[in-house]
Amino acid sequence: FSAFLTDSFGRRHSYLRISLTEKCNFRCQYCMPEEGVKLTPRGQLLSTSEVLSLARLFVQEGVNKIRLTGGEPLIRPDVLDVITELRKLEGLKTIAVTTNGMNLARLLPKLKDAGLDLINVSLDSLVPAKFEFIVRRKGFHKVMEGIDKAIELGYNPVKINCVVMRGLNEDELLDFVALTEKKPVEVRFIEYMPFDGNKWNFKKMVSYQEMLDRIRQQWPNLEMLQSGHTETAKIFKVPGFEGQVGFITSMSEHFCGSCNRLRITADGNLKVCLFGNSEVSLRDVLRSGASDEELLQIIGAAVGRKKKQHAGMFSISQMKNRPMILIGG
Ligand code: GTP
Ligand code: 5AD
Ligand code: SF4
Repeated sequence: FSAFLTDSFGRRHSYLRISLTEKCNFRCQYCMPEEGVKLTPRGQLLSTSEVLSLARLFVQEGVNKIRLTGGEPLIRPDVLDVITELRKLEGLKTIAVTTNGMNLARLLPKLKDAGLDLINVSLDSLVPAKFEFIVRRKGFHKVMEGIDKAIELGYNPVKINCVVMRGLNEDELLDFVALTEKKPVEVRFIEYMPFDGNKWNFKKMVSYQEMLDRIRQQWPNLEMLQSGHTETAKIFKVPGFEGQVGFITSMSEHFCGSCNRLRITADGNLKVCLFGNSEVSLRDVLRSGASDEELLQIIGAAVGRKKKQHAGMFSISQMKNRPMILIGG
């Protein structure tokens, strides 16, 4: 495995998350402020060919999974071309996307033909009015249609991301678990995380332990399954149910020790940690006409500076980072 993608704690970064756009057709409360964010001028965003050059380089060094994020990746006009081209990279095993689901039903057959392997969809409420309050836009039924269509086309499991916020959707935990009875989905309850402009505070966060306790009151036999070493979620299942339930515990029990992720933002910065604010512009290096070797030196140095773990939820909530919309999760 490439020394450039191995950090000083021996973590091998074989998973790259590429943000394709800063734009989104939703305005989720936990992701961005109501007024939106200042967008990077078009010319400073990575072009299709720049995205593909960087992807090729990372895959050559050992990346075997790429997840496309955003903003909302499915609103980028070249998303199908990007997937088609990524599919040609030898060594890249998995191409995944994290989407808000709004354009999913419409694009799905083409996404599948282009070679998309995995789909994660954000869905924070099963009550249409509440869903639309959280995302500040209409579209609940479209998203559900997208999820069902993905299941129909054989994506299994479709992962459903639910950011749990106190006083907002915490009362729907059991309904989300019930969704896994008949559908081959993995509902993942995510601890609310602080990012710039999302008004996080400790009281709004519902911890893993609390969620688990509440779910166990209804389903005492909820059993823990083995999950992959580098997975973000701890996975459970109600015996007999079709799907699974996961918990992403970034706040109460971080999983940095097994982190294998790097990120490239839509404006071309390499971000070595979701919560770290040290970034380096690969776009500028690329545009200076640098060789692969020079790019790799810069990537390697950034990976080498990666911290052992994030700074803890209170420090993170104080520090300057990007708003989530400009990171992509
Ligand atoms: P898989 O590739 O299916 O494992 O998905 P994922 O969980 O990595 O990605 P997804 O985009 O669905 O994100 C789900 C949640 O996990 C979001 O809240 C992300 O912010 C969070 N997440 C993703 N990667 C990381 C990470 O490296 N560190 C932390 N702390 N959280 C992450
Ligand atoms: N806390 C936790 N998860 C978040 N996501 C977006 N913002 C936050 C936050 N503040 C999740 C969404 C999306 C994924 C990319 O990141 O659920 O599916
Ligand atoms: Fe990796 Fe940073 Fe997430 Fe920890 S917080 S798992 S180091 S990206």
